[in-house]
Amino acid sequence: MAFHLAPLNDLPITQEIELLAITCTLNHFDAVDRLFPTPTLDILQLCITDAAFTGKHKQTLSVRRPAGSHIKHVLYNGLGETNALNAYSCKQQINALMPDIKAARATHIHWILPDELVENVCLRQIFVQQVMSELYHFNRYQSDPSPAYAPDITFYVASDLYGIDWLKPLEHILAGLNLSRDLSNRAPNDCTPETFWENAKQLAAQYPSIRAEALFEDDIKTLGMGAYYAVGQGSTAQSVMSLVHYRGAAKADAPPIVLVGKGVTFDTGGISLKGADGMENMRYDMCGAAVVLGVMQALAALKLPINVIGVAAGVENMPDGKAYRPGDILTSLSGQTIEVMSTDAEGRLVLCDALTYMGRYNPKYVIDIATLTGAAITSLGSVASLLVANDQALANQLITAGTQTDDKVWQMPLWPEYHSAIDSPFADMQNSGQNSPGAITAGCFLAKFTREYRWAHLDIAGSAFTYGKGNSATGRPVQMLIRFLQNLTNTSK
Ligand code: BES
Ligand code: MN
Ligand code: ZN
Repeated sequence: MAFHLAPLNDLPITQEIELLAITCTLNHFDAVDRLFPTPTLDILQLCITDAAFTGKHKQTLSVRRPAGSHIKHVLYNGLGETNALNAYSCKQQINALMPDIKAARATHIHWILPDELVENVCLRQIFVQQVMSELYHFNRYQSDPSPAYAPDITFYVASDLYGIDWLKPLEHILAGLNLSRDLSNRAPNDCTPETFWENAKQLAAQYPSIRAEALFEDDIKTLGMGAYYAVGQGSTAQSVMSLVHYRGAAKADAPPIVLVGKGVTFDTGGISLKGADGMENMRYDMCGAAVVLGVMQALAALKLPINVIGVAAGVENMPDGKAYRPGDILTSLSGQTIEVMSTDAEGRLVLCDALTYMGRYNPKYVIDIATLTGAAITSLGSVASLLVANDQALANQLITAGTQTDDKVWQMPLWPEYHSAIDSPFADMQNSGQNSPGAITAGCFLAKFTREYRWAHLDIAGSAFTYGKGNSATGRPVQMLIRFLQNLTNTSK
């Protein structure tokens, strides 16, 4: 699989072309017309008229071997009205089109993009990346791996829009997205907290701008991260908090953006054991950590001029004789004490200590990314990641980046009325509320550990993976986070 960018004039129409995809906006395909010799053009135009193809959103027209040409298959596809173009419409169109593209099984696809799309930096990124990410294939565990469909694709653009290679940066982001999905899709006996550490070291070996560091279970205990430590007590897998330092800013000491990912490699619920039904999905409880590692790789490849520290907070939540229990009172790194009401509300216990620890880096912003609550799924489904924040400007930037990439986030409030849900008669707080709006309650809990800096929390329980058979990690919200970071640096490529 390889992707190329070429000026439209280079389209080899005198040679055999297996599949020519032509993306058109509504009533607009003149630039393409000029490419074909008259007899072919006449036939194509007849087909277009007969089929009433206008380039309407999601409309397609398939023409086989138009006479007088070397093209085996032309696939016109509509992107719709130019002024209705946005990240959402692009993703919807690709999702509708890809079954046809995949069914054609061409080894080399020539794909003409309309100017209106290419002129928009964000939209061309989303469009092309959606094509690429639809070709994602995960076959790590098949003894006879199912063959991946991995075509070469050349995207053609008007000559005056050719010049800078804007495809390369998109491939870097895609590689980050794929790394995140590959990690997320791994089985829980093949992905432990140590796996994130192996991965962090690999990133450091690959990129001179990255340095990796780990806090192992003993360090976590000695440092006083009593909440994080408690969660891992019942597991034979060692808890590891991996830190990936990316330095891209001119100044080494420019305040970093910190990204903290929940990396619960399996969540049984602990002593507050989950039901058996669907428990296998709890292998996805480390998607936050996988997203952070994917973002770090993309950042280093893109060489963004900022400093970012990524954290994979790795731990496994198991029931055992050594496991922590409901009723336990934990002392967090912040000094605040926590009464455990449910060992299944483990994510916030891991995150609270990781968040306190990261305060020592004088961060510009801290964002945590976590499959934290079932309530996030009940609230927003798989459509949006759920956001809460203690800084509205930061929240707004994340919402904007989510719209730009159609990797949506939606904000919930942290109003004072919500905080009493975790009042405890014994300790400074409880780790869960009763009959409270769970995703907000979890946000209230984390807010008690993030008072020193500007912070946002993304609950990705609904957006990070899809249920059912198949390759189900989505890699969300890697694209949103990269766009957010790109917007911060004002480099929009
Ligand atoms: N990892 C789960 C949340 C989750 C549920 C993620 C479904 C993805 C899909 C989390 O650790 C959890 O168990 N949360 C509990 C919290 C409750 C005990 C307060 C929940 O949401 O039920
Ligand atoms: Mn849980
Ligand atoms: Zn969990």
